[in-house]
Amino acid sequence: MNFKRNILITGGAGFIGSHVVRLFVRKYPDYRIINLDKLTYAGNLANLEDIEQEPNYCFVKADICDFERIYALMQEYRIDGIIHLAAESHVDRSIKDPFTFARTNVMGTLSLLQAAKLYWESLPEKFEGKRFYHISTDEVYGALELTHPEGIEPPFTTTASSSEHHQAYGTDFFYEDTKYNPHSPYSAAKASSDHFVRAYHDTYGLPTIVTNCSNNYGPYQFPEKLIPLFINNIRHRKPLPVYGKGENVRDWLYVEDHARAIDLIFHEGKTAETYNIGGFNEWKNIDLIKVIIATVDRLLGNAEGASLDLITYVTDRAGHDLRYAIDSTKLQKELGWEPSLQFEEGIEKTVRWYLDNQPWMDRITSGEYEKYYEEMYKGR
Ligand code: NAD
Ligand code: DAU
Repeated sequence: MNFKRNILITGGAGFIGSHVVRLFVRKYPDYRIINLDKLTYAGNLANLEDIEQEPNYCFVKADICDFERIYALMQEYRIDGIIHLAAESHVDRSIKDPFTFARTNVMGTLSLLQAAKLYWESLPEKFEGKRFYHISTDEVYGALELTHPEGIEPPFTTTASSSEHHQAYGTDFFYEDTKYNPHSPYSAAKASSDHFVRAYHDTYGLPTIVTNCSNNYGPYQFPEKLIPLFINNIRHRKPLPVYGKGENVRDWLYVEDHARAIDLIFHEGKTAETYNIGGFNEWKNIDLIKVIIATVDRLLGNAEGASLDLITYVTDRAGHDLRYAIDSTKLQKELGWEPSLQFEEGIEKTVRWYLDNQPWMDRITSGEYEKYYEEMYKGR
């Protein structure tokens, strides 16, 4: 079959990547979607069971750091667009093992950039009609102050343009031109990869685009991250390890809204531009945790507040960024994107999904991950 486009999505077996792959496979039957993933601990093909038989989907197990292999795959599949999500993504792991983060996030991105450049330059039309889209994070911008540390009290209502959570904890935001100031090995490695992507545009003319997104939540997230970890722990009546005083603030976006933004920007974003993507939805960790507890208890039929006693304050994460808050006005104004889900709906959907998909969770949390988790919280 002759496909209109051949799109390489890296990290498609991970959390966000699996939502992007699913969206593209279903929405664009005339595109061939090549999901390239190394299947690290975070990669899980069970995330894609519902689309793996589709005729426009294929999976390739490969390491983005393997330049020769990537270059050969670019030729074999005649790749004309790349959406690059593969990365080591967990801040706590980066504190324990920074080398792996530098290797994958920096060298892996460089290997993809060079393979794309060489392959596309070898074609008669060169960079015409090509796109290298790099998915990055708001963490590269560093941390913001809590200028209203008391914030606001739940319950809240949230819409994209008028959210009580917009400016809830401070009036300053990350903008596209905010200076990079990463603090963790994870964000330092992501920042470095962003610089390489922009350098490939400025030096060689590679048609790149970069987006920086806030915290995602939703189905298929690996349960080392706050929301799925806590949902699973509540279900099993395990302690909920709150770092520090639980006062750090994050801006949460439902993962399918991020995937929609990626689709829009891949097709309509301007080459060499940066777009911030965020939910206008800031939450202090401890408030968010209480919402998760209330939702899980309600859906499990537990008495109200039954799981509050699981909250356990533990030693803070080293270098823990206090507040992230993305301003995504540029994306709203230029491309008309906005989050579709109110936070309450998103959390309800997310909790239900994890409770209804316990076998998915059990497969991940048995064995190696359990051991890692015990090690991580030893002494905290
Ligand atoms: P994830 O950890 O769930 O998935 C990462 C995927 O990359 C996994 O499938 C893994 O197997 C694959 N991978 C890792 N190393 C690889 C390698 N060397 N070669 C090929 N594949 C490899 O991550 P996620 O949360 O889905 O994040 C995806 C991307 O989005 C990352 O680049 C991350 O920095 C960025 N991001 C994440 C968030 C968030 O809240 N999760 C927010 C903003 C940006
Ligand atoms: O902002 C975007 C980033 O969001 C992405 O780039 C990262 O890939 C993604 O992992 C996420 O980073 P965070 O460090 O913000 O996410 P995490 O779920 O690990 O933690 C969210 C907040 O909750 C953070 O302030 C740390 C805190 N936390 C986390 C865990 C896992 C706890 O208090 N206890 C926990 O057990």
